[in-house]
Amino acid sequence: MGIAVTLLAFVALVMLKFYMSRSYTNQAVLRLPPGPWELPLIGSLHHLLLSRFRDLPHRAMREMSKTYGPLMLIRLGTVPKLVVSSADAAKEILKIHDLSFCNRPINPTADIMSSGGQNIVHCPYNERWRELRKICMLELLNQRRVQQFRSVREDEVARLMRTISNECSSGQPINLSNKINCLVSDIIVRTAIGERSKHRDEFLRELDDVMRLGTGFSLVDLYPSSRLVRWLSTSTRDIERCRRNIDHIIENIIHERATKSTVERDDDLLSVLLRLQKDNATQFTLTNEIITAVILDIFGAGSDTASVTDTKYWDAAEEFQPERFNNTNIDFKGNNLEYIPFGAGRRICPGMTFGCASMELALASLLYHFDWDLPDDVNTDEFDMTEAFAALFRQQAVQRQGKGGSRFRTCTGCNENGLVRCPNCSPPDI
Ligand code: HEM
Repeated sequence: MGIAVTLLAFVALVMLKFYMSRSYTNQAVLRLPPGPWELPLIGSLHHLLLSRFRDLPHRAMREMSKTYGPLMLIRLGTVPKLVVSSADAAKEILKIHDLSFCNRPINPTADIMSSGGQNIVHCPYNERWRELRKICMLELLNQRRVQQFRSVREDEVARLMRTISNECSSGQPINLSNKINCLVSDIIVRTAIGERSKHRDEFLRELDDVMRLGTGFSLVDLYPSSRLVRWLSTSTRDIERCRRNIDHIIENIIHERATKSTVERDDDLLSVLLRLQKDNATQFTLTNEIITAVILDIFGAGSDTASVTDTKYWDAAEEFQPERFNNTNIDFKGNNLEYIPFGAGRRICPGMTFGCASMELALASLLYHFDWDLPDDVNTDEFDMTEAFAALFRQQAVQRQGKGGSRFRTCTGCNENGLVRCPNCSPPDI
């Protein structure tokens, strides 16, 4: 027992010495940005875990950057992360030195999901990335295509309105977050893999697992070069299983389309990619593996992004105050770096028009068709508007029927209960 403890202490000491000398050498040579003090093996993780914002790492990082400045280096496990938290620093990174920063790092779970960076999000900045991104812009995400998908959005939003109308007629509060997630997934499923895929539920189940495993905080992503961690960790095996299942689902859809006698129309991203594959129309070989990785991009992109707010530009930056944007001409398209929900520079989100069109119609419909209220036992001061990590749009919201009579008027068009104007009679025009 005594020998084991001594041996353990010795190994820990050697590791500590090795770590300290390595980080000292690196810092001296590389002139790294300032950051909080680090512990061997866990790096800066303890600062995040001990912060009052331990469940919201982006807020914890913002607190830390008040001490260390707008360019701060932290280490999650062994992985260095540069935290950029002012508009001026963002300009340096995203505009002035953008060429040096336009490759995204790829962690082990992302490596498995993207088949080694074959997708758009993790593809290095090169010709293949340019071509893949161009295909997505031309075939799915530009203004004209987004307009063409209008009927899909209207159909899915109308379905959501009907579900809410049915559920709220009992007077019970409803959970909007799940319903919004389903709406977003359904719109994307229909535009990316086709109208009514019978594999939809199976596909979404696997995607849920991918999102859960791919936060970047799993052990294997914190210690990417450790073979021991990789061997011990279950997350790589789980993510490999997800990827296999998703490959299988997409192969099935491809096979079903190949055996269809009807001429395939370019009405979803998958059929476009299959046409390009068949015609050999890309500079690189468009394999099924790449097609699956790009389809996964469309579902996953934007879900793990967060901007750290700059208090120099915003009063009470962390408070939910949508009215702050009234009567301002602040642009969210990457030109005003104090507000970049879609990023900026070469790797700016290509799904901006698509995302905005879906969000606007859904939000306008929710406000137009219903009167919203909190449950009896909750008042606005108690209502928790804190965002959840990696799910910035999943605010908790509840709706209920008012006391002593219906708050929800009857549709003046077709008399449907619960709706001010039902979507069939008068969809908001966005
Ligand atoms: C409102 C919803 C959305 C938000 C807030 C959002 C946000 C973002 C952000 C912040 C980035 C990183 C940009 C950067 O590194 O500078 C990104 C990248 C990306 N987004 Fe979105 N996004 C949204 C919706 C979408 C949609 C609907 C799609 C596709 C249908 C999409 C596809 C992508 C892709 C492919 C990338 C990677 C681009 C590249 O590396 O070249 N996004 N998104």
